[in-house]
Amino acid sequence: MKGLVLSGGAGTRLRPITHTSAKQLVPVANKPVLFYGLEALREAGIEDVGIVVGDTRAEIEAAVGDGARFGLRVTYIPQEAPLGLAHAVLIAEDFLGDSPFVMYLGDNLLKEGVTRFVRRFDESRPDALILLQSVADPSAYGIAELDGAGRVARLVEKPSEPRSDLALVGVYLFTPAVFASVKTITPSARHELEITDAIQDMVDRGLRVEAHRVTGWWKDTGKLEDMLEANRLVLSTLTADLRGTLVDTTVEGPVQVGAGSVLTRCTVRGPAVVGADCRISDAYLGPYTSLSDGVVVEHAEIEHSIVLDRSRICHLGARMTDSLVGKDVVIAHSEAKPVAYRFMVGDASQIGIL
Ligand code: DAU
Repeated sequence: MKGLVLSGGAGTRLRPITHTSAKQLVPVANKPVLFYGLEALREAGIEDVGIVVGDTRAEIEAAVGDGARFGLRVTYIPQEAPLGLAHAVLIAEDFLGDSPFVMYLGDNLLKEGVTRFVRRFDESRPDALILLQSVADPSAYGIAELDGAGRVARLVEKPSEPRSDLALVGVYLFTPAVFASVKTITPSARHELEITDAIQDMVDRGLRVEAHRVTGWWKDTGKLEDMLEANRLVLSTLTADLRGTLVDTTVEGPVQVGAGSVLTRCTVRGPAVVGADCRISDAYLGPYTSLSDGVVVEHAEIEHSIVLDRSRICHLGARMTDSLVGKDVVIAHSEAKPVAYRFMVGDASQIGIL
């Protein structure tokens, strides 16, 4: 069994972060989302993984390398443009050959990993195995309709009037029978070759498409709220690990602090994770906060937020919450007159002020 991880795409729903970075590398609990998927594949016994990459290829390659640190052999498969999930399968045919494979969307996170589904696939040998979970907003996903016997009857990509709330989770298992289908389908209204249409074609050809429910949590981290929710879910299982220096600082609940970080006169209420070489002083860090390496926080309160490398958050008049802050950002109170808000903000940023 091989793995095919999709790490191209545009990441429009996470702009402005994704103007400059791959969405699959945004960290959840200080680890890039993509790494959770790679680890899940390795845990399931998969060693050969193809990673489909687009414009952010250099960044993904720099982060993952040859895969050895995950126990994987990684082959990069360049995609000229985000032409759809089925297009990614099409261009991976040479890499996949006649091997069955797990296709894993690089921005998806599954609590239970994929081992159970790989085992099930090996035992029952269907042509495709899809994973489903009930969602509150079915029109944001590919949706499956099952017949009375629980078999997959119809699949629709982001239906405006969904006839089921069963979303397709971003992990699919296929035999090479999928190639004939990805070659048959035509682009959708959003000009993509949809994997949903390819699976529908497999159903229509009378092939065996098995559906399984995912019972643990699953998150597509493509949007801010989902990213924060994924951060919350992963941090919920955090174990304490204090490596930095704590001076006059109170720590409650599970908290991790990386090497070289100094926390002075702070209260940290976990679960929360502080990366390496951070400087935090006169601050409150509340539950579900992840600060990446080199972050500076002074006289500020932060909770339920993700702050990326080297950003500085200083002298805020109110608590910062539900936020995703990119790299090298400065958010600070200014003494300059006239008293006013002063911004230098990238395209598609969102700021909520008092
Ligand atoms: O997360 C589950 C959903 O993922 C499914 O319910 C949908 O049926 C499926 O189409 C997909 O929907 P999204 O709109 O969320 O897909 P997105 O464009 O975000 O792409 C998913 C991943 O695949 C992401 O890591 C980017 C990558 N990708 C995407 C496209 C379109 C590629 O590598 N190449 C591509 O051409």
